[in-house]
Amino acid sequence: MLAALAADFELVDTPTDVDGILSLIPTKVDDAFLAHAGSRLRIVANYGVGVDNIDLGAARARGIVIANTPDVLTRATAEQAIALMLALLRRVAEGDRFLRRRADWVFSLEFMLGESLDGKIVAIVGPGRIGRETARLAEAHGAVPLFVGRRDSLHDALALADVVSLHVPATPETRHLIDAAALEAMKPTAVLVNTARGTIVDEAALVDALRSDVIAGAALDVFEFEPRVSPELLELENVVLTPHLGSATRETREAMGYLAVSALRSLLIEGVMPPNVVP
Ligand code: DGY
Repeated sequence: MLAALAADFELVDTPTDVDGILSLIPTKVDDAFLAHAGSRLRIVANYGVGVDNIDLGAARARGIVIANTPDVLTRATAEQAIALMLALLRRVAEGDRFLRRRADWVFSLEFMLGESLDGKIVAIVGPGRIGRETARLAEAHGAVPLFVGRRDSLHDALALADVVSLHVPATPETRHLIDAAALEAMKPTAVLVNTARGTIVDEAALVDALRSDVIAGAALDVFEFEPRVSPELLELENVVLTPHLGSATRETREAMGYLAVSALRSLLIEGVMPPNVVP
């Protein structure tokens, strides 16, 4: 299906003289990029739900429509959040690393004890589509979700939570939402999970907090200076890391591609505004 739809598409780094662009999350779509694309450009369809790689103001000023891929990646991203929670709490990645070092071991009663998700309070910071789905899946594991919206006190919620899971978009307001003070507000037994965007967490402050046992662990799918990962994180056993895999299932990536390409076709070929336009 995608191959057929892609017939009119060309893969280029800096498109020029085009009617539409399908951009990926690492593509910085700023005013210079849009200017380079030329005055024919009418739509940029982002292969992702987050649009922090796009200067929406610059696009608006040029009358260019921006589309994204909501809904189709909600389940996959929520699954990744739960996978990271369980991997961290049940020490899955740590156990895997341990065995790969060919360490000697024998089953014993207190060896590598972890924590169950059952009964834990999971703060869902950003109760949007992905946050709510993560809460639903966490509840299925016996956890108690605590929703933290814009009007709630973040620090009060952080003080109560056993797991803090981030689901807010990257905006100037959410940059370093989790800073040294926020980490200090968490319980020393609590863990942080980030499947949203790296810039939400002050990565240097997180490294300090993990090193000095301010919090018990972190599981990260996204990074402040992505694709660079702070080297200190790679040294810590109480950290689980994945390379931005939130939406990375075959089914989801195909659905995202279909949605992004459909937006281009809708506007450019059928002359109809696609439903998945970013306001
Ligand atoms: C998104 O869509 O914003 C994800 O981070 C990438 O799949």
